[in-house]
Amino acid sequence: MPTKIEKDQISGQDTTGHEWDGIKELNTPLPKWWLYSFYASIVFAVVYMLLYPALPHVGGLLGWSQRGELQATLDGEKARRAPMMARIESTPIDQIRHDPELMTFVQAAGRTAFADNCATCHGAGGAGAKGYPTLADDDWLWGGTPEQILQTIGYGIRNANAESRMGDMPRFGADGILTRTQIADVASFVLALSKPGTDKTAEERGAAVFAENCAACHGDKGAGNPEMGAARLDDGIWLYGGDRATLVETIANGRKGSMPAWSERLDPATVKILSAYVHALGGGK
Ligand code: HEC
Ligand code: HEC
Repeated sequence: MPTKIEKDQISGQDTTGHEWDGIKELNTPLPKWWLYSFYASIVFAVVYMLLYPALPHVGGLLGWSQRGELQATLDGEKARRAPMMARIESTPIDQIRHDPELMTFVQAAGRTAFADNCATCHGAGGAGAKGYPTLADDDWLWGGTPEQILQTIGYGIRNANAESRMGDMPRFGADGILTRTQIADVASFVLALSKPGTDKTAEERGAAVFAENCAACHGDKGAGNPEMGAARLDDGIWLYGGDRATLVETIANGRKGSMPAWSERLDPATVKILSAYVHALGGGK
């Protein structure tokens, strides 16, 4: 119940004028230093809210934003790289590797661009996986010169781009071109190209099937043909697998590995950097 504000006998301080069952409350004000810091922080908060973007959809008076700052950092980075990117763009692809300064740049920029765009399919460092060729070796489906690699990466493989790499492995079983026995025989022949075979007669029958059906694309002795991405069959390096079951599957149902055209997604300098980077990954030719 409210009473009068009065001086407390014992402490000499004023009371608040509140009393409960004879107990009175002393008025103990906040220390001045505390109170003024509190007011100062309120003023600071209001000024801050006006200057910086504090409310949803309302920018601050200073025009600063985190997004803007990020953009400025990115622009700065781009400007810093611009002279190098311009040099990459104007240097013919087969010359880049002869310029140590450009190659240092290619190694750094290529590693990042590869991790961002290519490693999902080709594995870290181009290690490859079933159906996704290893890029860190000297075995090239579509050719290993810098120009060939640039063409492969720029226009991709078996996609809708007009310049895309084309050429399919036919479906010899599914399309009824060869019988089961013929497929088994030719698989024996293909196996024997890279390791000693066990069934000479099957291999001989397979050799005839191969000469008639496969040699046009894969070459007489299975050396492959980069013009149409027809894999080498005599080197023991397999894109889809070199065990008998996988070979039969490949020959019976065909294969159509496909890769996007990177020139549709990346700028020309980056495509070139990636080509020089990939060329240097394996024993590029
Ligand atoms: C969506 C999966 C995918 C991605 C992502 C991808 N590739 Fe490929 N790439 C493939 C496939 C599949 C092939 C093999 C196609 C074939 O069977 O001929 C291939 C083939 C290649 C080849 C030809 C290799 C040879 O032996 O001739 C090169 C070079 C290559 N990729 C580079 C790249 C680069 C560089 C990137 C990143 C910009 C990339 N790839 C991203 C799927 C991919
Ligand atoms: C019209 C051309 C063409 C003909 C004919 C052809 N191939 Fe192919 N073959 C290809 C192409 C292209 C590829 C690569 C497919 C891919 O990369 O997806 C391939 C891939 C393969 C592979 C996979 C190699 C690996 O590394 O996994 C095998 C095995 C193969 N062919 C065997 C044969 C046999 C056996 C015949 C004959 C019965 C044959 N091919 C006929 C074009 C051809």
